[in-house]
Amino acid sequence: MSVELLKQRLPFLNIESGLEVCMGDEGFYLDILHAYLEENCLSALNDFYIRGDWRGYRIRVHALKSSSLHVGADEVSALAKKLEYAARDDDMAYIHLNHYKFLWEYEALLKKVNAVFMEYEEYKAYEYEGLGRLLVMVVDDNEMNRDIASHILESEQYSVMALDSGEEAIKAMNKYLPDIVLLDIHMPPGINGYEVMNIMQQDERLAGIPVVIMTGDDDDDTELKGLMAGAQDFIAKPFNKDIMMARVRRIIELDHIKKFFQAEVLKKTKDADDRRREAENITDEIVKALASTIDAKDKYTKGHSERVAQYAVMLATEMGYTEKELRNLKYTALLHDIGKIGVPDEIINKTSRLTDEEYDIIKTHSAIGYDILKNITQIPDIATGARSHHERFDGRGYPDGLEGTDIKEIARIIGVADAYDAMTSNRSYRRSLPQDVVRAEILKGLGSQFDPTIGNIMIDLIDKDENYLMRDFSDDENNGGPV
Ligand SMILES: [Fe+2]
Repeated sequence: MSVELLKQRLPFLNIESGLEVCMGDEGFYLDILHAYLEENCLSALNDFYIRGDWRGYRIRVHALKSSSLHVGADEVSALAKKLEYAARDDDMAYIHLNHYKFLWEYEALLKKVNAVFMEYEEYKAYEYEGLGRLLVMVVDDNEMNRDIASHILESEQYSVMALDSGEEAIKAMNKYLPDIVLLDIHMPPGINGYEVMNIMQQDERLAGIPVVIMTGDDDDDTELKGLMAGAQDFIAKPFNKDIMMARVRRIIELDHIKKFFQAEVLKKTKDADDRRREAENITDEIVKALASTIDAKDKYTKGHSERVAQYAVMLATEMGYTEKELRNLKYTALLHDIGKIGVPDEIINKTSRLTDEEYDIIKTHSAIGYDILKNITQIPDIATGARSHHERFDGRGYPDGLEGTDIKEIARIIGVADAYDAMTSNRSYRRSLPQDVVRAEILKGLGSQFDPTIGNIMIDLIDKDENYLMRDFSDDENNGGPV
């Protein structure tokens, strides 16, 4: 093939400038042009667009800008450059308005260059894939209809696959995934158009492909049934070229926009999820660090806050708490004793019997905890959990002497978990109590110290814990298990 011939056949290519870049080497220019066809990045570019990956998009259009310039495809290069700038500047409006126009322009260019190459022996073997990017499937049992529709669509640069039955169409769809399907309704003796749509709807990969019904019927019933079956639009037979083209183009555009927004929503949801998870992890770490600060202050209750949180969450899970409620409960339980920070170390760590006065000071930890936490609004009741975890169901607890359900449920749960851990954890002066003793204590406290419903759930949990695993295991190897 001579470059002269190319110039005649491809007047829209600035072959002179392409040749200049190739230092006048015509053979090399043809190779570059060939490589440009092979490089075809239609789908890659569209994938970046659909996924909203603007960094990838920018890199692609940048590469395309340069390679187009090298072959003299000045217009495509100029358009790519504008898209590259838009991607750099986050000018989404420009990209959304021009992306598909650009793809069409680029695809048309590839097709024209390819057609010229295909006419020549040396390129006959060259298989060009990718031009079927915008593939229209025409399904009609009438040969004339298929021919006319194919002729109209091919004249507009679409790849067309014409099939004469619903069965063939479904088979082909699974292989080629068309961008749009133009579907006849009546196709005896095989399955009809509605059935084709039904099968498509049930297949995740095919359900999203837009379908346009081609029909000679103009009754409401066909239209209604078609819409119910998932058709996007109708094209009346006999075909009008302009109407057919306008509908096909509009639906493909709408479909791409729809896919773009779906991808955007997915991406945004994922971003929001990632951010939420990150925030939750930070909160988790901070709350746990705070909880260990509290536990470090009281040397006899190592790991107490974590275990209370664990038991509280187990109780609330049985009570049907949602994931979010469980999370809030976990934080509340982890920090229920935070007020101990305000109690002198020598009182907290005193091993001999506390005086009444000292005990009163210890008791202030719940009110102090409330004060520390009261300004946290994101975790409802976190302050109340600290304040009310020593209230008793019979009203004889502290600091407010609340009774029954006047005590917030979250505090009643923590109250049970707290008492359970006190009995099942190791202290310097004793090992954890035997499980049956703990069970009996909880049973005894039902309705007096404990909310009977929550206390009974605790008893159920104890009964399920056949190997007594719900307890403090610290120092077991030195001191043995429970007393
Ligand atoms: Fe406490």
